Amino acid sequence: MTNFLSLADVTNVDALIQSGRDAKANPFADQQLGKNKTIGLIFFNSSLRTRLSTQKAAQNLGMNVMTMNVGQDSWGLEMEEGVLMNADKAEHVREAAAVMGRYCDIIGIRAFAELQDRDKDYREQVMHQFATYAKVPIVNLESATRHPLQSLADCITIEESKTVKRPKVVLTWLPHFKPLPQAVANSFCEWMNARALSGDVDFVVTHPKGYELAPEFVGNTPVIYDQNEAFKGADFIYGKNWSSYTQYGQVLTQDPSWAVTMDDLRLTNDGKFMHCLPVRRNLKVSDEVLDSPSSLVIEQAANREWSAQAVLKEILSTI
Ligand code: CP
Repeated sequence: MTNFLSLADVTNVDALIQSGRDAKANPFADQQLGKNKTIGLIFFNSSLRTRLSTQKAAQNLGMNVMTMNVGQDSWGLEMEEGVLMNADKAEHVREAAAVMGRYCDIIGIRAFAELQDRDKDYREQVMHQFATYAKVPIVNLESATRHPLQSLADCITIEESKTVKRPKVVLTWLPHFKPLPQAVANSFCEWMNARALSGDVDFVVTHPKGYELAPEFVGNTPVIYDQNEAFKGADFIYGKNWSSYTQYGQVLTQDPSWAVTMDDLRLTNDGKFMHCLPVRRNLKVSDEVLDSPSSLVIEQAANREWSAQAVLKEILSTI
């Protein structure tokens, strides 16, 4: 693995999930692998889980870790090529990424969608600029369109929690007043579609009309517009809000009936609730669900350490 930008960089999903589970069972087995190697974690946006879990995973592998918040700890970075830099961005990504690549053996980048220009967001400019100019492996810490470290942690969580061989997994849209990116939902679809193809899950998406995800992510997954219908017989309910893809970045409804409650979970096959966090209590999901044994959100967040460790281990073994 040279970069970890999306599922396309993974040659064997089963093996990567198993590697994460092995790391969880024995976190320090590969402490020599990262000795004298440095990872730079570069954040254009806020983070709790991604920052701490990736740092912890790198340390478990013996790596040195440097973290930087772009624009707060550093100069603002210009991403466009050939522009007259007479505005607020003091440094170009060409120099910044090239310099970081001299200090770091691996670079992790978080850069969310701006939700203003769909084509621009879906071109993944920041990831591609860093991959081009840093000349070291790049790890996606959540980009404009994907969050693959989260999706890998979600796969690990489903594998270790499932009670049937081929569980039914439902991705449900949740209400929110603010426009949020599609990255987590896109990525979850991408990884679950692969798991469905290999016979490991049955996968269904449910959302109000107008919240259709990009066709390249939802693929042939059944989309059901009736949440109650979709939840019937589900083993895992994966909740997430996203703004509209077709009316890009718009909030089309805040219908509170789409929030997940215990009444909704009663429609399932003793289904477990998952969410990547952070989550706004009682807006998207009730206290009762989050505080019940049906919630996997803490275990899911804990598994972020092991998904990061599996990915960093695979990259370290190639450099
Ligand atoms: N789930 C997730 O990526 O959390 P953070 O935004 O806190 O990193």
